[in-house]
Amino acid sequence: MLMLNTPLQHELDHYETASRDEITAMQISRLKWSLQHTYANVAHFRAKCQKKGVTPADFKELKDLSLFPFTVKEDLRQTYPFGLFAVPMTELVRLHASSGTTGKPTVVGYTDADIHNWADLVARSIRAAGGRRGDRVHVSYGYGLFTGGLGAHYGAERLGCTVIPMGGGQTERQVQLIRDFEPNVIMVTPSYMLNIAEEMERQGMKTWQTALRVGIFGAEPWTNAMRAEIEQKFGIDAVDIYGLSEIMGPGVASECVETKDGPVIWEDHFYPEIINPETGEVLPDGEYGELVFTTLTKEGLPMIRYRTRDLTRLLPPTSRSMRRIDKITGRSDDMLIIRGVNVFPTQIEELICKEPMFAPHYELVVSRDGHMDNLAVRVETEPHHAGGDRKAYAKHLQHRIKSLIGITTAVEVVDPGAIERSQGKAKRVRDLRPKG
Ligand code: DLL
Repeated sequence: MLMLNTPLQHELDHYETASRDEITAMQISRLKWSLQHTYANVAHFRAKCQKKGVTPADFKELKDLSLFPFTVKEDLRQTYPFGLFAVPMTELVRLHASSGTTGKPTVVGYTDADIHNWADLVARSIRAAGGRRGDRVHVSYGYGLFTGGLGAHYGAERLGCTVIPMGGGQTERQVQLIRDFEPNVIMVTPSYMLNIAEEMERQGMKTWQTALRVGIFGAEPWTNAMRAEIEQKFGIDAVDIYGLSEIMGPGVASECVETKDGPVIWEDHFYPEIINPETGEVLPDGEYGELVFTTLTKEGLPMIRYRTRDLTRLLPPTSRSMRRIDKITGRSDDMLIIRGVNVFPTQIEELICKEPMFAPHYELVVSRDGHMDNLAVRVETEPHHAGGDRKAYAKHLQHRIKSLIGITTAVEVVDPGAIERSQGKAKRVRDLRPKG
C-alpha cells in the first residue's frame, strides 16, 4: 500500500494507492472478463484468435496476454463503422469519431457504464493535476466528434467543478472568458495555449495575472522544455494528460502535479504493454517501444492489445501505485528519417524552447532532393529579439541540432506570427516529398 503524506489520501480511489499484488489480481480478473466479452461478441476478434489458435481460456496470468493478436487501426477500417462494437447498437449512448489522416474516420462507441467510467477517470485526472471541487474549469479542447471537449467536460462535472464549455477556436473570446469568468483550471492543447497567450498579450493582458492555477495539456506531443515555457508565461502548473479515442479519449493516463514525472496509467481500466514495433515482442518496463493497451472494463468497444503507435516507455509508480509512461516522444508515423537518422519533431522542439531568442512556434519542412531527404526548420524569433542577428541565431540552432541530434538542417528564423497557429492539435511537419 502506498502511503501518501498529503491531505488528498482519503479522497483517492482505491487502486490509486493499492499494492501491486492487489492490482495484478484485479487486472487478471478483469482481463479474463474483457477477453471473454470481446471473443463472444466481436466476430472479427474471434476470427483473429481462431487463426492464432487461442481462446480466452488460454489466459491465466498476465504474461499470457502476449498469446493474443494485436488490434491495429486497420482492423477499425476493415470493420467500419461499427464492426468492432461488442454490444447491440441500442446499448450505446454515444459515438465519437476521429478524422484520421487518410480515408474513413475511426468510430468509437460508449455504453452508459463506459461514459460513467470515463467521467470518473477524467475526474481522477483533474484531481491528480491539482483541480478540486468548486474550481472553475475552462475547456478549450474541441467539442463534437473529437473526444477532447466532452471527455474533459464530463470529468470536470464529475469532480464537482464548474465547467466553462468554450471549445476550440474563437481565440479572442477565449481570452475574454478567461478574464471575466476567472477559471482556475484550463484544459487545452499546449500549442493552442500558446496561441491564447499571444492573444492575451495582443489585448494588453498580462498572461501571469489570470486566476488560472493549473493547465491540463495533451492531445499532442509536447516537451518538458515546452512545459517550462508555459509555466513561466502563465505562472501555473502545467501537467500532461494522455489518451486516444480508440481506448477511451482523454484520461487514459494523467500526470500528478506533485511529481510531474509522466502520466500515471489508470491501470485499473487499461493494461499497458510496450512492444518492439518491428517484431511485436513484449519489452520489459523501462525499455522504449510502442505503447499497446488492452481495455479492462470497456463494454461498447473493448480493445485487445491495441497498438497506439505512440513511442514511450513504462516507468515505475511514484505518486500513485500505478505505473507511468514517459513523455511520448512522438508517433511512429511522425518519425522522420533524414539521411538515415531518425528524428522526431519533439527533439527539435526541446532545442528551440531552450533558447531565449526563439518563440515556441516552429514547423519542419521535409523535401526531397534526388534520393536525399532534406529537413528545414522554420522558427520564429521572440518579438523582443526580432531585431537581432537572425543569421547568427539560425547558425546557432543549426549547430545545436547537428551536435545533439546528428542531422544537418537548414534553419530559417522568421518573423513573429509567421508560422500558422493551431486551434487544436498543432501540425508540426510539412511534407513536400512527392507522394507514392
Ligand atoms: O487526442 C484524446 C485526448 C484529448 C487526449 C485531449 C488528451 C487530451 P485522438 O484524437 O484519438 O485522441 O488522438 C490520440 O494523440 O495516440 C497520441 O499520439 C496523441 N496524444 C494524446 N495525448 C497526448 C499526450 C485524443 N499527452 C493521439 N502526449 C495519441 C503526446 C498525445 N501525445
